[in-house]
Amino acid sequence: MRIALATCSRLPDLYAEEQELLPLFAKRGIQARAVIWNDPTVDWASYDRVVIRSTWDYFHLVAEFRAWLARLRQLRVRTVNSLRLLEWNMDKLYLKTLEQGGARIIPTVFFEQGAKLDLAALIAARGWGRVIVKPAVSGGAFETYLFDGARAADYQGKVEAILRGSGLLVQPFFPEIEVEGECSLFFFGGEYAFAVMKVPAPKDFRVQFEHGGTFRRFVADDGLIAQALAVVARLPQKPAYARVDGVRRGSDFFLMEVELIEPYLHLAVAPEMAERYVDAISQAVLH
Ligand SMILES: Nc1ncnc2c1ncn2[C@@H]1O[C@H](COP(=O)(O)OP(=O)(O)O)[C@@H](O)[C@H]1O
Ligand SMILES: [Mg+2]
Repeated sequence: MRIALATCSRLPDLYAEEQELLPLFAKRGIQARAVIWNDPTVDWASYDRVVIRSTWDYFHLVAEFRAWLARLRQLRVRTVNSLRLLEWNMDKLYLKTLEQGGARIIPTVFFEQGAKLDLAALIAARGWGRVIVKPAVSGGAFETYLFDGARAADYQGKVEAILRGSGLLVQPFFPEIEVEGECSLFFFGGEYAFAVMKVPAPKDFRVQFEHGGTFRRFVADDGLIAQALAVVARLPQKPAYARVDGVRRGSDFFLMEVELIEPYLHLAVAPEMAERYVDAISQAVLH
């Protein structure tokens, strides 16, 4: 059994802590190697599975990434998570589906690609103070903006530019992100594994470490785990791995996104979870 751990050209050898995954796969009879997803010389059909690990540039190369997934489908190369889940998860309009299914998401107004939007009128109608806009297809807080609703007109050009390339989400800003932070709960093989709390740098709102954010492991209480697990249960298929991100207001969890493509695994603060991750992937690969 040979698997490719799909990564990007910036991280050809994965993170140091993720290199530890390779011997864990070997122990389970699976030969794993890191492979750059858009390296044209790769013979994908020579792998039994492609496991998406750190394809962190895909949202800059959306058409190419979609074409790669289509090519894997054509070659009958299976992926983990499944192609269906990967494609479903690329566009944050999936949040609308989850909300319709009963999930508590951050209140969101959704716009499809090419839609018309009068940002100032929308924000005035909602009575929102600080506002977040973000592309429906994005990652790492790319093209995600926070501004005072009164300054909406200044962002009209930006949202129009985003809407030419993808859908768009408009949300009220949740200031809890600057206080407690954004919680990320990991589920491997459908079971809860561990959680991290991420906070932005002072004067920023983005929790990603590329933007100066920091993270720590934390003990999620049963209520929080249950709310995140309910999100996983509403996905179109059972994922081998999932990271559920959101913000707490009191004991209520508001979903920000579910990451089923390339969640950073935070194994640096949870080294023993590498075994759990590899077990979940091995289960998916061997069945
Ligand atoms: N409604 C919101 N309130 C507060 N912070 C937000 C909100 N939406 C996004 N953010 C911030 O922007 C970051 C990126 O948004 P997110 O929806 O997670 O997209 P992605 O991680 O795919 O870029 C979040 O991690 C958070 O720091
Ligand atoms: Mg995010």
